[in-house]
Amino acid sequence: MRCAKIIFLILTSAVLLALPASAQDGKALYRNNCKVCHDKGSLHKQYAPMTLTQAQWRKFYSAKLAASHATVVHPNTGKKLFESLTPEQMKAIQRFCIDHAADSEAPATCG
Ligand code: HEC
Repeated sequence: MRCAKIIFLILTSAVLLALPASAQDGKALYRNNCKVCHDKGSLHKQYAPMTLTQAQWRKFYSAKLAASHATVVHPNTGKKLFESLTPEQMKAIQRFCIDHAADSEAPATCG
């Protein structure tokens, strides 16, 4: 029994370690930096990865985000959104949205 437990633990850690860092971070980053303003009933409308298609998300990140969020301030930290996130973190959020868009294999509401 004990041995089975240890093998189980080793296997789960191996699976977690095998996930690319961005796949783990994207969801948490989205929750903490996007969902805070785009949850159900939000003034700024509800947006989850599955609200848009992959093409719409790509367009949003390449053409709209910078302009529509330039003056956006994070409600919890009081800092500008773009100053609270590194370019790598923004990339991880973008990945998460595209990987879980409406027309992806695993559409996500993000809780
Ligand atoms: C401080 C609140 C706030 C945060 C944080 C925030 N947004 Fe927004 N978002 C807005 C506002 C304000 C608009 C402008 C349009 C509106 O009010 O309908 C907007 C618009 C949008 C739109 C609609 C398209 C557009 O460009 O107008 C999308 C999609 C979107 N946000 C996604 C995101 C994503 C993804 C994140 C995280 C990286 C995020 N938002 C973080 C406030 C926020």
